[in-house]
Parts: sequence; structure tokens; C-alpha cells
Amino acid sequence: MRTPVETRELHKHFGSIRAVDGVDLSVRAGEIYGLLGPNGSGKTTLIRLLVGLQRATAGEAIVLGHTMPNKAVLAQVGYMPQASALYADLTVRENIGFFAAMCGRLDPSQVDAVIALVDLEPRAHDLVRTLSGGMRQRTSLACALVHQPRLLLLDEPTVGIDPQLRATFWSYFRRLADDGVTLLISSHVMDEAERCDRLGLLRQGQLLAEGSAVELQAAAGTTTLEEAFLHIAGGETA
Ligand SMILES: Nc1ncnc2c1ncn2[C@@H]1O[C@H](COP(=O)(O)OP(=O)(O)O)[C@@H](O)[C@H]1O
Ligand SMILES: [Mg+2]
Repeated sequence: MRTPVETRELHKHFGSIRAVDGVDLSVRAGEIYGLLGPNGSGKTTLIRLLVGLQRATAGEAIVLGHTMPNKAVLAQVGYMPQASALYADLTVRENIGFFAAMCGRLDPSQVDAVIALVDLEPRAHDLVRTLSGGMRQRTSLACALVHQPRLLLLDEPTVGIDPQLRATFWSYFRRLADDGVTLLISSHVMDEAERCDRLGLLRQGQLLAEGSAVELQAAAGTTTLEEAFLHIAGGETA
């Protein structure tokens, strides 16, 4: 699949709010694409359109060759929502197993592997409602990964994660990309952007610029990505 994610003139409006306002996005196979933008810029709405949880007001979202919404595609997509979608009265392991089973890919050794990856082995048999926020975040990531999807859509996956584990996550994301998995990761944190192959700068539902961190800095004539973003966004802060 040459272009795992493609949108054409994609719009999602809520009344007078243009949450997504004419986005043409193209994410290549095996890359880590960073969707960067301040709060309210439309990151979550765009990702929800890609998952098929929202229906576009206009335009198209094409994921793994299919126009979304399309339930059949979801077995190949790992989605980590910004707000936790876990079952509070199931254990960590049961939650992850449930997600795997829903995708028809319940492999106990894979469940164990993702629990180890997110460093939750000691808590695997605890109910999710007894976990800290960061642990829930880690469980949620494990749910997105357990069925070994070809495309990962991660909505601010590292918020609330401590720096050491965050570094572990990013090296895992890189390993997945090296194996040909495509990752679209949203963030409002600039230091994470440097770890992405390409970035899309989103503001008020519009994709203002796309490119690698180096390309964006060169185009804006700045030495940091933060300055580049401010320059491209016209001096407004996040
Ligand atoms: N279900 C909804 N109903 C009404 N407005 C919404 C809804 N979802 C998002 N919005 C609005 O769309 C805009 C973009 O929100 P969102 O996609 O959550 O941005 P981000 O994830 O970048 O913070 C915001 O103004 C938000 O209030
Ligand atoms: Mg969001």
C-alpha cells in the first residue's frame, strides 16, 4: 500500500465550527507522521474521521485503500483515543485481550508481549479503575498494538507518560516503522516532533505546512521547530 492514509478536501464542521477545514493529507507507508497543533486545532477530529468514528461533512478519508467509514479496515488499524476507552471493571490483561479478540487476533503470547512493552507486568491482573492515569494510558497503547496492525493512529499517546517510558515508546514506534508499519501520531508537544519523519502543522482545522522538521525550519528560516511553527502560524502561540 503506497499511501495508507489519504484525505481529499476533508471537512468536518460542527455548526459554525470548522474542526477540519479542507485537509489534504497523505501519509506514506512505513513513516512516522506527526500531526502537530495546539489544543482545538482539529487533531482529534481528523483522527476520528480516519478511524471512521465521525462522518465527513465533505471530502474523503481513504484508509488502506478504503473510503472511511469502513468497518472491515479496522482489523488492520490500531487506534489509541485521546480519552481512555478502557473498561474500568476489567483487568489490564482482560482489556487488552478483549481488544485482540474483537479484531479476531487473540494470541496470549502477544498479549503478554504488549503488557511487557508498556511495563505493566506487575499490574496485569489489577482492575483498570485502580490504575493511575499514566498506567491507563499505557494500557490503552497496549490495546492499540495487540493485534499487530499495519497502521497506527495514536492521539497524543505520550501525554501523562514519564520521560523514560516516553523514550521507550518512541524507540518502539521507530522499530514498528522500520518493520513497515505506518504511524500517525498527534501531539501538541514540539520536542516529540523531532522524532517524526514528517510533520503536518494543523491550525484551526487547516494543514498549514508539511515536511520534515529540518525542511520546515529551513522554509521558515528558523533554527527551532517551535519558532518555525510560530512563523508559519503567523505569530500566534499554542
Ligand atoms: N463532537 C463535537 N461537537 C462540537 N464541537 C466539536 C466536537 N468535537 C470537536 N469539536 C470542536 O472542534 C474543534 C477541534 O477539536 P479537536 O479535534 O478535539 O482538536 P484537538 O484534538 O486538536 O485539540 C474544537 O473547537 C472543538 O471544540
Ligand atoms: Mg485532541
